[in-house]
Amino acid sequence: MRLRRAARVILVGAPGVGKGTHSERLLHRFPQLQCISSGDLLRNNVKNRTALGIQVESTLKAGNLVSDSIILRVISNEFHKRGWLGQPQVMTLNSSAISPEAEAYNTDYDTENEMAAFMSAMPKNTLGPSADPSASFILDGFPRTALQANKLDDLVPINLAVSITTPFEVLLDRITGRWVHEPSGRVYNTTFNAPKVPGRDDITGEPLVKRVDDDEATYRTRFKKFQETSEPLLEHYARKGVLWEIQGNSSDEISPRLFREFEKRFCE
Ligand code: AP5
Ligand code: MG
Repeated sequence: MRLRRAARVILVGAPGVGKGTHSERLLHRFPQLQCISSGDLLRNNVKNRTALGIQVESTLKAGNLVSDSIILRVISNEFHKRGWLGQPQVMTLNSSAISPEAEAYNTDYDTENEMAAFMSAMPKNTLGPSADPSASFILDGFPRTALQANKLDDLVPINLAVSITTPFEVLLDRITGRWVHEPSGRVYNTTFNAPKVPGRDDITGEPLVKRVDDDEATYRTRFKKFQETSEPLLEHYARKGVLWEIQGNSSDEISPRLFREFEKRFCE
């Protein structure tokens, strides 16, 4: 289905709620969309052993959030790489991993001041709310804090924040059955959407793996972090009038309603 208006969407929800699953389904239904998953970007850095990946590895494994400054840097780099924000002034980025040039530019934005300086070097709102629908995107997992949301506002205005809620016990159950294809980020579940061949990716036939943060104890930490940070985040988007909330026990229940909402807002 074709979008008639640019969709700039974020997905907010507890770990395991189906942000990745819904992103994949939305991309399939609305081919003009592109998706950035903050978790996938971080995991790619870990896998490729970049300096940033080495820095965040233990945080991811423990189920804690990485610092706002690091995630902002990763996301800004990805926006530039995709040409959504014009050319970076100092960085040359050819992949989702942080390039040596970017590493040289600045390896750590520890303070609010440093980060503000970095963000002010970025072109503001380059896309603008009336930009072409082919520049539509979904952000899965970013922003996660009110500070991240404020910084994102400076880069690109969001016109829909989808908040998905599912009971904790259902989520915990899902996480234990989740398997992922690391290179693509494709997600499977042994009870819900099992791969055609057990343990293998449907498209490439490559092996599936468990995420290092998908054990019960780590899941509980991730869930707690979500509870601590999500309220101010949702308030931020409610104030802007772009928050849309949906509840359900399964993605199959949620998907058709999500599709309808997209059609209503961006296709009609
Ligand atoms: P991230 O990768 O974003 O993980 P998360 O938020 O914990 O969410 P998940 O990816 O676990 O779940 P999901 O909602 O995508 O669900 P999925 O579709 O897989 O972040 C990882 C880490 O990176 C964080 O802990 C943090 O350290 C760091 N990070 C990332 N962004 C950050 C930020 N902005 N700031 C700071 N730190 C950041 O579905 C889950 C399972 O359910 C799957 O197995 C799926 O198949 C299954 N499923 C889906 N629908 C159904 C159904 N209907 N019935 C049964 N099973 C189903
Ligand atoms: Mg995910």
